[in-house]
Amino acid sequence: MPRRIIPVADARSLPPLTAGDSLRTPSGEVLDTLARPLKDLRISVTDRCNFRCVYCMPRAVFDKNYQFLPHAALLTLEEIERLARLFVAQGVTKIRLTGGEPLLRKNIEFLIERLAALRTPTGEPLDLTLTTNGSILARKARALRDAGLTRVTVSLDALDDALFRRMNDADFAVADVLDGIEAAQAVGLAPLKLNMVVKRGTNDGEIVPMARHFRGSGVTLRFIEYMDVGTSNGWNMAEVMPSAEVVARIAEHFPLVPLEAHSAAETAQRWGYADDAGEIGVISSVTRAFCGNCTRARLSTEGKVYLCLFASMGYDLRALVRNGTSDETISAAIAQIWSGRADRYSQLRGSDAAPAVSDDHRIEMSYIGG
Ligand code: GTP
Ligand code: 5AD
Ligand code: SF4
Ligand code: SF4
Repeated sequence: MPRRIIPVADARSLPPLTAGDSLRTPSGEVLDTLARPLKDLRISVTDRCNFRCVYCMPRAVFDKNYQFLPHAALLTLEEIERLARLFVAQGVTKIRLTGGEPLLRKNIEFLIERLAALRTPTGEPLDLTLTTNGSILARKARALRDAGLTRVTVSLDALDDALFRRMNDADFAVADVLDGIEAAQAVGLAPLKLNMVVKRGTNDGEIVPMARHFRGSGVTLRFIEYMDVGTSNGWNMAEVMPSAEVVARIAEHFPLVPLEAHSAAETAQRWGYADDAGEIGVISSVTRAFCGNCTRARLSTEGKVYLCLFASMGYDLRALVRNGTSDETISAAIAQIWSGRADRYSQLRGSDAAPAVSDDHRIEMSYIGG
């Protein structure tokens, strides 16, 4: 039986579209109900991936019967560019392309070119980046850079080849990803960040080898606490390794010093190697939630806006894009949607005030990107 986990038919109804009455900062950024400005837009360009990471797209669920989105449901690259432009007009200064695996989307370079040409209301170019599994990055790095991408984030969960193949469950070799990282560095996609999801009992033995391998290389390695995102990965707290433990393990081998955050909205806490061999980051969504400064909106492949990684429903902007709605009205819709936002799932997780998110409704990471 074909299966879908994502409630494609469900969409939140759009708020009344009355322009101009949203709460804003003095510089015009729209604020949500917790006074968080809209600054980042994460755009998922495909729900497909050539990996089957056990914590994200377990093969038992994402098998040959799994129904990915049909082509007609996807926003076209022109539609994505239009929506991105309207988000930028509302204060977005940073755009990250995600997936699935974004490099699988046909003509992604064309989209990057268009997004690289966008300017903020004060005339600045965007911080434009992309999260990839690295498997075809070696082939694509130059074209991505030429299209106007400035930096890239690669996911890599282990250096041990057998373990990495088990974790991606698609028999991809570590060497392919390392080649991709090298190619990205060679063409100047910098700073290059590397994301490692740590699962206790699976790849925690790779923490120190990864730190050893990448220190001094110019790559910023970030350790991510395994999250209860989606409904298909069988998440369990016993498999979460708190970032404090990750930092302690590394510090036993390589002394670390805390570094200042670049900005309040940053997901990662930064640590520097005491011997100046670069820095690492830890992303502690489970043990130290960072919702208080969350400035991220997510646009799904089919054009729904989600206000949280753990949301169950999104606002359908594709319907507006495809029924001839004007830029002005869509822009007002974006402002209204953000104005009503109260999401802070990670902060409430486990507390009495935890939001009632129906389990079979929570969106999957592969649908909305990280
Ligand atoms: P830069 O530091 O600017 O490169 O961006 P970033 O920290 O947003 O980086 P990235 O997109 O690589 O995020 C890293 C990981 O952090 C993601 O893969 C997620 O696992 C997690 N993450 C990112 N944004 C959020 C968020 O809003 N909420 C939660 N709970 N986790 C997030
Ligand atoms: N918990 C934490 N991070 C995850 N990612 C995917 N699923 C999870 C999860 N359950 C990360 C990937 C990649 C990004 C797309 O999201 O490792 O870096
Ligand atoms: Fe694909 Fe990234 Fe999910 Fe792995 S974590 S299955 S590479 S989308
Ligand atoms: Fe933002 Fe939701 Fe993540 Fe909190 S859990 S940081 S509100 S996306």
